[in-house]
Amino acid sequence: MSDVRVALAGVAKSFGVVQAVRPTDLQAGEGELLALVGPSGCGKTTLLRLIAGFEAPDAGTIRIGGCLVAGEGVFMPPERRRVGMVFQQLALFPHLDVAGNVGYGLKGMSRGERRSRVQELLALVGLEGYERRFPDELSGGEGQRVALARALAPGPAVVLLDEPFSSLDLSLREAVRREVRRILKVAGATAILVTHDQDEALAMGDRVAVMLGGRISQVGLPEEVYRRPRDVTVADFLGDANLIEGDLTEGVLHTELGQLVPNGLVPTGPRAIALLRPEDLNLELVADGPATVVDVEYFGHDQVVVLRLPSGLELRARLHARERFPRGSRVAVRCAGPRVVAFPSQAARE
Ligand SMILES: Nc1ncnc2c1ncn2[C@@H]1O[C@H](COP(=O)(O)OP(=O)(O)OP(=O)(O)O)[C@@H](O)[C@H]1O
Ligand SMILES: [Mg+2]
Repeated sequence: MSDVRVALAGVAKSFGVVQAVRPTDLQAGEGELLALVGPSGCGKTTLLRLIAGFEAPDAGTIRIGGCLVAGEGVFMPPERRRVGMVFQQLALFPHLDVAGNVGYGLKGMSRGERRSRVQELLALVGLEGYERRFPDELSGGEGQRVALARALAPGPAVVLLDEPFSSLDLSLREAVRREVRRILKVAGATAILVTHDQDEALAMGDRVAVMLGGRISQVGLPEEVYRRPRDVTVADFLGDANLIEGDLTEGVLHTELGQLVPNGLVPTGPRAIALLRPEDLNLELVADGPATVVDVEYFGHDQVVVLRLPSGLELRARLHARERFPRGSRVAVRCAGPRVVAFPSQAARE
């Protein structure tokens, strides 16, 4: 990782009996966009609030730009931490116009300097000419870009974004998140983006941290956490996971879909579970094929075909939308390659 901008070491936080954040290490590098993803209640917002200084950790240390901001008897208040925040609910000041909102955190500047910094930020987020508009005169996407401009204006050491797209409707969300990523990259900002949306985390993060039950389960490049999840729970959380169990003999897993070869760390037998992503499966219509099509979810660009194997196990296969697999038809199932990620059977039952 390039220079570490934000570093958490052993950070923990409880509210009464609720352990919101269990002892956690996490780092974000200079200019990095780190996506923090996990289900509702797993502690994401608490972690951001600890970094921002709205909560004090029970244990551990937090450093921002090399400076100790919490822990070891130190507690620096939020306004001194050089942290920019963008929240789920647009927190623009309703009584200030766009220029007033963006310029809000700019202290110790002359009027002229402040005006030119606001101009610079509005150009960055593509909202030149919006200075005199009020928050209630903006679309959801424009409002979110103003909030981002306001967070970036003072040149923070890190920008924290907590579910910034969840109040936007689906059609707008993808465009706004692409735009926000572009803006953060142009600004060279270090950012931590919280989301419970796996696709959003994978699409936006330079790296992705998966948080489950107050703990960071895995941190890695998007393709690492998706293709090589460290356990069944992470596999299951990050998109569709077909989990198929089989007998492991001499490094080969014998499953209902044939022989698969576990990649990398081979679990010790006698049983193991292979992870097959829906796009790893190929189907062929065969009159006496072993699997039956039970459902088809059509998405336009592709489709997910739900299959039932003779054992009753259901699998999801993601395919081009061109070929049709009518419900009730019989298919043969092939894996895209023999190499798969596999986990010990025991882990899945825990
Ligand atoms: N101030 C508080 N007092 C008591 N419990 C709290 C407080 N803040 C959070 N919690 C609890 O801590 C846990 C983690 O909450 P947190 O808000 O960090 O989750 P989250 O991952 O952001 O969830 P969501 O995706 O729903 O926003 C939850 O069980 C929550 O109920
Ligand atoms: Mg939250």
